[in-house]
Amino acid sequence: MMRSRFSLLLISCSLLMCIFVGVCHGGELRKKFYKESCPLAEDIVKNITWTRVANNVTLPSKLLRMHFHDCFVRGCDGSVLIDSTSNNPAEKEAVPNLTLGGFDVIEEAKTQLEKTCPGVVSCADILALAARDAVSFQFNKSMWEVLTGRRDGRISRQSDALANLPTPFFNFTALKQSFSSKGLTVTDLVVLSGGHTIGIGHCNFFSNRLYNFTGKGDQDPSLNSTYAATLKSQCKTLTDNTTFVPMDPGTFLSFDANYYKVLKLNQGLFQSDAALLTNKGASNIVDELASSNKFFTEFAQSIKRMGAIEVLTGSVGEIRKKCVERFTTDMNAHKVVVTGRIEEQKLLKKLRKKTGKRVEIIIHDDKKKKKKKKEGGDNNNNGDDIGGSSKDGNTAMVHDQYCCRESEAIFMMFSDENPNACSIV
Ligand code: HEM
Repeated sequence: MMRSRFSLLLISCSLLMCIFVGVCHGGELRKKFYKESCPLAEDIVKNITWTRVANNVTLPSKLLRMHFHDCFVRGCDGSVLIDSTSNNPAEKEAVPNLTLGGFDVIEEAKTQLEKTCPGVVSCADILALAARDAVSFQFNKSMWEVLTGRRDGRISRQSDALANLPTPFFNFTALKQSFSSKGLTVTDLVVLSGGHTIGIGHCNFFSNRLYNFTGKGDQDPSLNSTYAATLKSQCKTLTDNTTFVPMDPGTFLSFDANYYKVLKLNQGLFQSDAALLTNKGASNIVDELASSNKFFTEFAQSIKRMGAIEVLTGSVGEIRKKCVERFTTDMNAHKVVVTGRIEEQKLLKKLRKKTGKRVEIIIHDDKKKKKKKKEGGDNNNNGDDIGGSSKDGNTAMVHDQYCCRESEAIFMMFSDENPNACSIV
C-alpha cells in the first residue's frame, strides 16, 4: 500500500535521472551475477563478514553506513574506499566520512576473492554484500537481496562527498531534495533513516540542539527535555567531537523498528531524524513503521533501490585489484606509510628501485596502544573494542578503523645518511 503510492514517482524519477544526468546503468544489476565467474563470491564475503561481526558488534552499523555513503557519492562504485593522494583529498577526508569504519573487512574479503577468482568481483559489490551480511548476522539469514554486477569507480573527491551527503542538520525539505536527487522517495527516506536503529552518533552532530539551537544558547524545543538532560550529561560542551552516544538507546545493537518508537517520543538524535515528524506524509510513514511489522520488508526494498544508485555496469568502470589502500609518502621523515593488505616483497622491491635506498618494513602493532588507552579509562575511543590485526604469509593486514587510522599502519623508513637506518615507529 505504502510502497505502491510511491512506485510511479520512483519510475519517473529514474527516467528523469537517465535523461538528464545520464546515470541509468542500474538496470543491469542482477541476481547472482558471479554465479559462473566466481561461484563462491557471495559465500566468501558472507563468511568473512560473519566471522568479523561475531568478534565485533559495532561492524553492522559501520558497514551499513559506509554502503550509504558510497551510494550517495558518485553512485555505489566503491569510491568511498579509495585513499587520498597528495593532490586529491578523497571522499574519506570529508567530515561525515571521518567516522566511517570497517574498511578492513572489505579489504579482507577482496584479498580472499582475488586469490579465488582474480579480477572478477568489484569492491562496490563487496561493500553492498558486506553491509547486508553484517546486519543480517543477528538474524542468521539474509535480510535483503543484493543484486550484483556493480563495477568500481576510480574517482573519489572530498568535495563530492560534502556536496552529496545529507547532514544531520538538514530539515525535511533538504532531506527530501537530497534523496530525490538520487532517485529515492520520501518513503525511502523514512525507511532508510531506520538504519539509525543501530550505531552511535558523536556529540558534535547534535549538541547544537542541546546548547545553542538558534544561536541564543537555547535548546531545540522539539527534543524531549528529559532526553536532552541525559544527553547533556554525556555531551558536556558544544564542541565535543569525541564522545558518542547510542542513536537508539537500549537497542542500539539490534536492527529493529525501535527507531520509529523513539522518534515518536521526540528522542530522535539528530535534527534530520526529528525532521521526519515535521511533514505529514513522512510522519504517517513513521507511525506505520512504529506500529506494524513492516520495517524489515520496507527496508529490504528501499536499500535495494539505494544499492542501485548510479551504478557502473557492463563495460563502464573497472574491477579494482585492491579496495582499500593507503599509501602516503613523507620524504622529510623518510617514511612511507601503507595501510591495507600488501605484498611485502613486491612493495620492498618497488621502493628500493624508486628510492635507490635500503628499505625495511616495520609493522606497527597497535595492540599495546589500544590497551594503554583502555587502562587510561578513555571510553570515548570508539575503536577500543574494534577489530585487531593479523598477519598471514607474505601479506600483512592492518585495520583501518576511524579511531586508529594513524596508528594502525605499516611504516617503511628509508634513510640517506645511514643506509642501515630504519626506525621503529
Ligand atoms: C537521512 C539522512 C541521514 C543523515 C543526515 C545521517 C547522518 C548520520 C550521522 C551524523 C551519524 C553519526 C556518525 C557519527 O557520529 O560517527 C550517522 C550514523 C549512522 N547512520 Fe546515518 N544519516 C542519514 C541516513 C542514513 C541512512 C540512509 C543509513 C543507512 C541505510 C544510515 C546509517 C547510519 C548508521 C548505521 C549509523 C551509525 C554508524 C556507527 O555506528 O558508526 N544513515 N548518520
